[in-house]
Amino acid sequence: MSLPWDVLAVYAALAVWAGLLVLGFRRRTFGPFFGMGIAILLVLNVRYLVSGVGVAIPAFVGIYDVFDNLGLGRDEGAPALAQCVDNACSVWGDRYTNHPSWGVAFYDRFVNGPQSRRTMLYTHIFFNSIAFVLMHVQLARPGTGPNRSQHRLIGKISFAAITVGTFFAVWLSTEHGSVSEYGGNLSMVGFWSMSAVVYGSAIKSVITARSGDVAQHRVWAIRYAGAMWGAFWLFRVMLVITGPLLRNYESASLLISIWFSAPLGLLVAETFRRRFSGVTSSNAERQLTPA
Ligand code: HEM
Repeated sequence: MSLPWDVLAVYAALAVWAGLLVLGFRRRTFGPFFGMGIAILLVLNVRYLVSGVGVAIPAFVGIYDVFDNLGLGRDEGAPALAQCVDNACSVWGDRYTNHPSWGVAFYDRFVNGPQSRRTMLYTHIFFNSIAFVLMHVQLARPGTGPNRSQHRLIGKISFAAITVGTFFAVWLSTEHGSVSEYGGNLSMVGFWSMSAVVYGSAIKSVITARSGDVAQHRVWAIRYAGAMWGAFWLFRVMLVITGPLLRNYESASLLISIWFSAPLGLLVAETFRRRFSGVTSSNAERQLTPA
């Protein structure tokens, strides 16, 4: 059996990335960690747009096969594992015949589903990836000083991108009521709450910018960035840990990611903001209060 080099390359990249995180804590600078996180995200997401769901989804499911089958015999199943037709939903061939059941449903929904559903997924991925990259450009080049007009323009493009991306995420999740492997209605409402956390913080960031409240704009921009990192990276990293731990309960690991990734990301960003900038929300508010 040939090895899935793309999945192995992702593991190697994730190992280097984890090293950068450790280094970041030691040196108190996270630039390389953030840069590599954006780069891996782009490689994973561009693959959907270039090669399509038939190639990208088996590679994505393949990342989790190794973890979800840890400690199990070759054909040993579990309530949260399932098989797929011709074992086509993962890149591992005969090595793994049981896959996370959400992965089997994910493959079936998009590879065997209608073209309109695939188009919605590509649109979601395209616009959310643009918003993800642009939010870093905005944080790196704040709108004070000479960057003001450029910051405003990119802010508008970025907000339009997250609006379209989130709209299609909400639309896709309205179909989840009948997808028991995702958790049915709990998945649907969970994705709506995830959208509310991400989009709500984006809206707060826009409102504070428009009212000229620079300090609060910065606070909400950082919270939005945290929610976005949570929605993408924490969501997927949490599955690596919860997948094998909770494989006796179908959809439990996915539901935990759906409900908690974005709020957790926001919380982490807020904690770092307070610790590293030394500015608490109440401090910021005080700074804004006219004398
Ligand atoms: C507002 C927060 C988000 C919500 C509610 C959300 C929701 C969703 C939904 C519903 C799906 C399809 C699952 C299905 O219907 O079977 C999906 C897949 C996907 N989303 Fe999101 N998403 C969010 C944020 C993001 C972000 C920020 C990115 C990229 C920067 C992203 C990239 C993807 C990708 C690549 C997939 C395909 C699965 C994968 O390979 O990871 N999403 N998302």
